[in-house]
Amino acid sequence: MTPYKVNITYEPFALEPEYIESNRAFIANMALDKTQMVLDLACGIGTMTDLLLNRKKEITVTGIDISKESLTIAKDNFSKVGAFGATGSAVLSLIQASADCLPVANRRFDAVIMGNSIHLLPDKDRLLNEINRVLRPGGFLAFNSSFYAGTMPKGTEKFHHEWMKQAMSYIVSKDLNLRKQGRAGIPRKRGTVPGAFSHHWPSGKEWQNILEHHGFAIRYTNERTVVMTQSNFETIGAYGGFAKIILSGYPVEDASEALQATVAPSLAAVNMKTVPRLWLEVIAEKKIEYGKMGSGTSADSTGKQ
Ligand SMILES: C[S@@+](CC[C@H](N)C(=O)[O-])C[C@H]1O[C@@H](n2cnc3c(N)ncnc32)[C@H](O)[C@@H]1O
Repeated sequence: MTPYKVNITYEPFALEPEYIESNRAFIANMALDKTQMVLDLACGIGTMTDLLLNRKKEITVTGIDISKESLTIAKDNFSKVGAFGATGSAVLSLIQASADCLPVANRRFDAVIMGNSIHLLPDKDRLLNEINRVLRPGGFLAFNSSFYAGTMPKGTEKFHHEWMKQAMSYIVSKDLNLRKQGRAGIPRKRGTVPGAFSHHWPSGKEWQNILEHHGFAIRYTNERTVVMTQSNFETIGAYGGFAKIILSGYPVEDASEALQATVAPSLAAVNMKTVPRLWLEVIAEKKIEYGKMGSGTSADSTGKQ
């Protein structure tokens, strides 16, 4: 019996203190005074929603995710803490859908929040058109991402290379051992999911250009250093959604096991205990649609006036 569990949702990492605190700090920079209706896009188990509701109780959140399992956990979590309200009147509703095809009316939201997921959507134009459509003019999009060009501070790449090298050789030797015992090996079926890093990671500057092209005005950008621990990497490795992309083509259980088992030896090999990673944070405001809304100015979308 392997001690390594593969998790179908992002839950283990989303509950790590480092993840929660970096998101809490990001959310602290959002001006929520004129914000009532919020869309937590690719909401997972609802970590961002929870932090938002902790900052401002009087908001109404819609959580959308493609994963039914994540939404089930989110629903359980929020039922326990009462986000649905004592009377059952929802301040929170959860919908299963893809972030780039939203079953939502135009201009419904004051804010769209995307916690560490914008990089997962392959077609950024399609995604931003949808976000733009469901935001009211003057509303804002806030996202962070730990997958962008510049995310690895100098000197930290060696850990990531070592981790991938060790994870691959873990699978290869497990495969050999199984075959030696006359058992089925570990088949690799290429082309079942997109390979790791198969789409371009924009830099912070490129994100700004893309957003401006889509009619957003940048209000805030930041690169937050998150010091990642052994436990952080192990819980990321436990997330099947990550494992199946990073070691694409291998059965997700084997990929996830290999990633979890090789964090500690990889850290030791490069003589590091923790690995800093930069997280890009962006808050961008949907510009007023002149002619439709008049020429008034809109509220600033960051907490920093
Ligand atoms: C890294 S997790 C982040 C979850 C959550 N935002 C958080 O911060 O805890 C990425 C989430 O994106 C969801 N996801 C992936 N592709 C999606 C898509 N096309 N539409 C909606 N959600 C998607 C996954 O199911 C997963 O819950």
